[in-house]
Amino acid sequence: MTIAKENAAMAAMEFIESGMTLGLGSGSTAEIFIDMLGERVAGGMKIRGVPTSKRTAECAVEAGVPLIDADKVEKIDVTIDGADEVDPAFNLIKGGGACLLREKIIANASDMMVVIVDDRKMVDTLGAFPLPVEVDPFGLALTADQVFRALKVTGCQDAQTVLRQMKDGSGPLITDGGNYILDSKCVKIPNPVETARALSQIPGVMEHGLFIDLADVIVIGEADHARVIELQRD
Ligand code: 5RP
Repeated sequence: MTIAKENAAMAAMEFIESGMTLGLGSGSTAEIFIDMLGERVAGGMKIRGVPTSKRTAECAVEAGVPLIDADKVEKIDVTIDGADEVDPAFNLIKGGGACLLREKIIANASDMMVVIVDDRKMVDTLGAFPLPVEVDPFGLALTADQVFRALKVTGCQDAQTVLRQMKDGSGPLITDGGNYILDSKCVKIPNPVETARALSQIPGVMEHGLFIDLADVIVIGEADHARVIELQRD
């Protein structure tokens, strides 16, 4: 699948011009893009990147991509980021890499969001990938209960919600912002707009992984090419 990710990352380059400020997403596909961007920078392209995670910042430094702090930019031209699932309306599930809060802040502040995925990420209905929700550690059980109820009331039947753990078993995963992640196995999210709205109203929820009305372009990498689909807004 690396080749499909590479084809998507390469095709996304057509949206990048010298002089731009770029949001740099997180995850393996975004990192492939950042490596390619580093080659363009070495060749004279002038851009600056706003990283969406500590890991992305490290990756960008290694690739030679100049960075600027999110607090120091007035505008972001284009954000390039991966996704865990994409539906036909360009709704996304993100947060498999636990960076959804910063990813959403940057995507929302960008003139354009270009999503780079391999073709396995395209789905008819979101929900097979467990939906990540970033929560304040305070009152975790109360917030988890509210998340479960919000999912149920918006049509996600019997979603099982678990606290994400570190891969080495050392305890709960802590995000860059110091929060926990609840992952909910919904199987299907029939009303993503309603579910997003309901989750946003829960006080302990810092952000959820449903990205609604943020993606402008989806670049789908396949084994030998990439397809670029642009959202037609009325
Ligand atoms: C990180 C994300 C990633 O974009 C998402 O998990 C996709 O990652 P990958 O490109 O490694 O499949 O949302 O929070």
